[in-house]
Amino acid sequence: MSYLIIDKVTKKFDGTVVLNEISLAVERGELVTLLGPSGCGKSTLLRCIAGLNEVDGGRILLNDRDITYLAPRKRGVGMVFQSYALFPNMTVYENIAFGLKMQGLKGDRIAARVREMIDLVGLAGKEGSYPRELSGGQQQRVALARSMIVEPDVLLLDEPFNALDAKIRKTLQMELKNIQKKSGMTMIFVTHDQEEALTISDRIFVINEGRVAQSGKPLEIYSQPANEFVARFIGNFNVLKGEEFEQLVGEPLFPGKSLAIRPEVIKLSLNGENGKGHNGSWRIKGKVVGVFLKGNILRYRVRSKDSILDVDVLNNSMDCSINYDTWVDLVIPKDEVKVLNL
Ligand SMILES: Nc1ncnc2c1ncn2[C@@H]1O[C@H](COP(=O)(O)OP(=O)(O)O)[C@@H](O)[C@H]1O
Ligand SMILES: [Mg+2]
Repeated sequence: MSYLIIDKVTKKFDGTVVLNEISLAVERGELVTLLGPSGCGKSTLLRCIAGLNEVDGGRILLNDRDITYLAPRKRGVGMVFQSYALFPNMTVYENIAFGLKMQGLKGDRIAARVREMIDLVGLAGKEGSYPRELSGGQQQRVALARSMIVEPDVLLLDEPFNALDAKIRKTLQMELKNIQKKSGMTMIFVTHDQEEALTISDRIFVINEGRVAQSGKPLEIYSQPANEFVARFIGNFNVLKGEEFEQLVGEPLFPGKSLAIRPEVIKLSLNGENGKGHNGSWRIKGKVVGVFLKGNILRYRVRSKDSILDVDVLNNSMDCSINYDTWVDLVIPKDEVKVLNL
């Protein structure tokens, strides 16, 4: 049996269904992500697991216990929020030690555990600092240590890095993954950021309107979207109707289907140079209607007949980018065209 089981959990607010018989299972020691757009019910599900929201139906099992109706403090669930919610009048050391003190542990045993946690989250030397003397990233490390030190059965993290700038955020993503692996703690991480989910997760649950739209390892979710919602939400797929695609390539192939094509699998070239279309691919012509610099990639938006396709190429800054209104050739490998369920 799985370590944490969400079994057909329903939650309504004022008659509006926010969690719609949602089911998912997490194994011990996993770091899973709930990924979905704002308002899809991610925080509500975390709050149901923590006991901060009462469910309207279904069951929640954790570590062989039915916790559906237990008081929050009896569940063995820890939580980290976007706002660090540290005690401003306590030092880093006191903030982290707080939970153990509440449990009635004695000073020397507390000291050993706090030291361990401080090393784990990389805060050595900051023991005597107050929260106001720390950066946002450091404060979030304190919040993480404070939640982990009491060793909850599962730690819930609700968009914990949202308030941090991009660079710190990326660093903390990597560190969280390391900390999680070292500690073996089961964690459920919530984010609306696809890249963040793909970076840190063992598995991802994509949530849409209070249900799981798809679950799987990051690479599966990224390369094999099960349905149109996931394809649109993850990885900037081009999503086309079958009829639209048939018009593009001139073959009746996918009536009534939706198709997804990743921007980086389409090869773009000028005037038929490099790469002829062959049996394994389609070749079409189009006109550049947009150019977007996205750091290490350049995204071209290309109009072909009535369709728009995004095409990503590695940004080799030695090359000049192709200008608006330029005619280009696109080669689309046949085995990269994914047929979606609705
Ligand atoms: N306490 C509440 N009372 C009424 N509606 C709520 C409450 N909490 C959340 N909602 C609604 O439930 C939906 C899901 O919210 P939430 O779980 O916070 O989404 P997410 O975390 O995925 O952005 C939203 O439409 C939100 O307005
Ligand atoms: Mg939320």
